[in-house]
Amino acid sequence: MKTLNIYIETFGCQMNLADSDILAAIMINNNYGIVQDVKHADIILLNTCSIRDNAEQRVKKRLKEFKSLKKRNKDLLIGIIGCMAERLRDTLITEENVDIVVGPDAYRSLPNLFNSIEDSKRVVNVELSETETYDDINPVKLNSNGVCAFIPIMRGCSNYCSYCVVPYTRGVERSRNPESIIKEAEELFKNGYREVTLIGQNVNSYMWNNSYMLDFPDLLKAIASINPLLRVRFATSHPKDISDKLLLLIAEKPNICKSIHLPVQSGSNRILKLMNRKYTREWYSEKILSIRKFIPDCSITTDIITGFCTETEQDHIDTLSLMKWAKFDAAFMFMYSERAGTYAAEYLTDNVPKSLKIKRLNEIILLQRELSLQSNKKEIGKVQQVLIEGYSKRSNDFLSGRTTYNKVVVFPAKNKKPGQYVNVLISKCTSATLIGEIVD
Ligand code: SAH
Ligand code: SF4
Ligand code: F3S
Repeated sequence: MKTLNIYIETFGCQMNLADSDILAAIMINNNYGIVQDVKHADIILLNTCSIRDNAEQRVKKRLKEFKSLKKRNKDLLIGIIGCMAERLRDTLITEENVDIVVGPDAYRSLPNLFNSIEDSKRVVNVELSETETYDDINPVKLNSNGVCAFIPIMRGCSNYCSYCVVPYTRGVERSRNPESIIKEAEELFKNGYREVTLIGQNVNSYMWNNSYMLDFPDLLKAIASINPLLRVRFATSHPKDISDKLLLLIAEKPNICKSIHLPVQSGSNRILKLMNRKYTREWYSEKILSIRKFIPDCSITTDIITGFCTETEQDHIDTLSLMKWAKFDAAFMFMYSERAGTYAAEYLTDNVPKSLKIKRLNEIILLQRELSLQSNKKEIGKVQQVLIEGYSKRSNDFLSGRTTYNKVVVFPAKNKKPGQYVNVLISKCTSATLIGEIVD
């Protein structure tokens, strides 16, 4: 029988990128092929994101392009998998005319589903699980630079921030078996990888509590102990779960990167309460002070949503003032996008006009650009250790990598290669990039 070839395109977060690698492994183990060029595909799978409306629109646009390929190849199958599959379910079949709809916890069933397609076209499996972590699957790296890898350590989210679709698309929070995580990190190191990022929607609530107990700092310590040349990062942290035990560990272990992503979402207590974030501005500020106490040079980055339900000018000003006080090194900033089925969509009013959302978003982006520039300027004249990740987009004469603070550095190659550590003297910067020269 002919091997069927699958082309996978991934949208959304790091979890989705890691899921595509897991999915590729499942399919290869079941005698399917994975292709990098859609022209050679018998099956196209879009691993999708629902976090904001524009994320879904992007997928739909791409889907349209792929559907036009069907005119030339009647046997081509198109599937929507991931968060949009979970959210929109059968409507993707009735309205978008796709052949396969599979949610994030049902990837193991894909080979069987493909078999059943032959008789009765169109299949759906959007069952969520309370236990699935795909922990026994050795992912196939689809888009890797061979230096940095993501390792999922947990799945799902049980925080129910009022604006967020993730608890509905990904199911309840569950932690992955630590032994399989450590084994995966060891293998990656053996295969030449030099950085792993432990990922999950809320990594610091990681807790393994089966035959023994192991929390997030314990896991992070075990990974960082594999080899001093293996850098470790983690994302994302919910502020409510950042502990002194974790901060102390980061301060002590040189190969745990001094960079914490701590989404604040808003600087207004009234809005934080409506968002169900479970902390206040003051409590968040205390966490920043703790980070700076334990790890004085730690970089702190954040996520901000602007124009959430009932946000006033004063709420917006509170966000700007918190940003200035915290001096975030970088931020991801978004306009609020109502998601059907969430608490906010059901019980709050999305009453900030789009034009005002855009105006406020532009204000926070402008402020953050200035804060990022200030943060980068502080690096000028310093020598930083950089892990080389690849060649610069502009020219192969330049390499690119990151510092422990997660800042991108570009510098002349001088015969060095991806995967090596070099010391770079920083001489210039923009708000997004540091520029320098290797000094050893
Ligand atoms: N689990 C992570 C974030 C996951 S989603 C955490 O809690 O930090 C990434 C970011 O998308 C969120 O931090 C939030 O800033 C943004 N986001 C989530 N839902 C959104 C919505 N409905 N509209 C706009 N931005 C949203
Ligand atoms: Fe969404 Fe909140 Fe969970 Fe993050 S912690 S994924 S924002 S519900
Ligand atoms: Fe998007 Fe799902 Fe990730 S909604 S952000 S792909 S968890």
